[in-house]
Amino acid sequence: TVLVVDFGAQYAQLIARRVRECHVFSEIVPSTMPAAEMLARRPKAIILSGGPASVYAEGAPVAPEGLFDIGVPTLGICYGHQVMAQALGGTVENSDVAEYGGATVAVASPGMLFAGLPHEQAVWMSHRDFVSSAPSGFAVTASTDVTPVAGMEDLERGFFGVQFHPEVLHTEHGMEILRRFLYEGAGCRPSWTMVNIADESIEAVREQVGEKRVICALSGGVDSAVAAALVQRAIGDQLTCVFVDHGLLRKGEPEQVEKDFVAATGVNLHVVDAQERFLSALDGVTDPERKRKIIGREFIRVFEEAAREIVHGGAAAGDPAEPVEFLVQGTLYPDVVESGGGTGAANIKSHHNVGGLPEDLQFELVEPLRTLFKDEVRALGEQLGLPAEIVWRQPFPGPGLGIRIIGAVTRDRLDILRDADAIAREELTRAGLDRDIWQFPVVLLADVRSVGVQGDSRTYGHPIVLRPVTSEDAMTADWAKLPYDVLQRISTRITNEVREINRVTVDITSKPPGTIEWE
Ligand code: XMP
Repeated sequence: TVLVVDFGAQYAQLIARRVRECHVFSEIVPSTMPAAEMLARRPKAIILSGGPASVYAEGAPVAPEGLFDIGVPTLGICYGHQVMAQALGGTVENSDVAEYGGATVAVASPGMLFAGLPHEQAVWMSHRDFVSSAPSGFAVTASTDVTPVAGMEDLERGFFGVQFHPEVLHTEHGMEILRRFLYEGAGCRPSWTMVNIADESIEAVREQVGEKRVICALSGGVDSAVAAALVQRAIGDQLTCVFVDHGLLRKGEPEQVEKDFVAATGVNLHVVDAQERFLSALDGVTDPERKRKIIGREFIRVFEEAAREIVHGGAAAGDPAEPVEFLVQGTLYPDVVESGGGTGAANIKSHHNVGGLPEDLQFELVEPLRTLFKDEVRALGEQLGLPAEIVWRQPFPGPGLGIRIIGAVTRDRLDILRDADAIAREELTRAGLDRDIWQFPVVLLADVRSVGVQGDSRTYGHPIVLRPVTSEDAMTADWAKLPYDVLQRISTRITNEVREINRVTVDITSKPPGTIEWE
């Protein structure tokens, strides 16, 4: 493993992902972890991440004591570079001139990291402090106009530092530099491949659950699907999946789960048709928060009933006498990092997906994806033979179309929205834009009517809002500039093919101030 020491969360995750793209497993650890504990994980290399602090600021994070004495090859990046320089006897200075964005480094002597790379390279910088002199034993390998020590290395001890960010795409040879550090500087081997990930995870699930029975709630989303497929591969019929059809899914999605997913995995599926139940619970409710609460509550109740039935025998295959002791969750690595780095700190978030299950249904969690990033989960899904429609599904909110109907939810309105949404998705796919768009909510303004004219007669119908967005992580988003001809096709088809809709609009608000969903 390679340990990425986190000096500021947004940097560490990207570095960890890049290391894995070099086919080397990486984990993020907090900068407060003692060096001995790091060593106990037997790292092949350590990377000190960037971070927002100045090494001179009060309470600024420092390298764990003794970190540079444990004999592990180490790369410092940006703030990590400065921390390394300072800890080993170099000097860090505060500059009046910041260096943010693109810069050019000149390679003074290539050393190991820059060997064979061009003398001048475009890099991405984001710093104000800088290393003004390298510690003794280090050779200065690169500099820029304002940064005398933009690269340094001490080959004898296996220490490397770069002021710029090799992990961002704007650094021209960043991946090459990372690869050199990992393969040559630290002797890592590229063994983190999808085949190995799948094999190891399957083995780990077998070991964890033994002969016991396992239950899993399928939402139709990527994470629960891949998690279930993996567990199925590991333990076959010991797994029962529960799919709650709450009637708020999009056109074709229940079938995707009930037919395509089952066909691809051979999983034991227990479908609960709860459409009526959700509709009546939502009857007349217009407040977004109340809708969410009702949908969440009903979901847990229905899942709970199904689980009880399975646990106490009846509905599912497997030996009913054998109690179900495990529950599969599609928790991903970013959730683990954000809720305490998997370092023993409270990991509350992962339990939240299913929420308060009753006492007599105490499950141990199986979380086969908890070391993986989203892109790895997708690759794993492909490796496991899941259909592309499932693996490449865009994120879809748990409350589904219930929060895309502005106004009360009725069966009629759901049908209208499903038709309009299906057209928008079809046209997006036809234009080859699926992977460029983060998400494409289609929203029905059910309580709004406007006058239109269709086929020589006056109409008084509802508007549909198209909300295509681009994003990296849903925390911020921008409205997607879909080509006019695509918008036009969607608009024409929706007004022609969907009854009650006589107007199509596009939401051109970024997030913030808007959110991605309308409710
Ligand atoms: P907003 O609308 O807050 O959404 O910009 C951010 C992301 O979260 C999704 N979302 C949800 N996902 N349960 C979910 O599983 C929810 O209740 C929920 N609400 C919003 C939304 O689709 C977007 O990807």
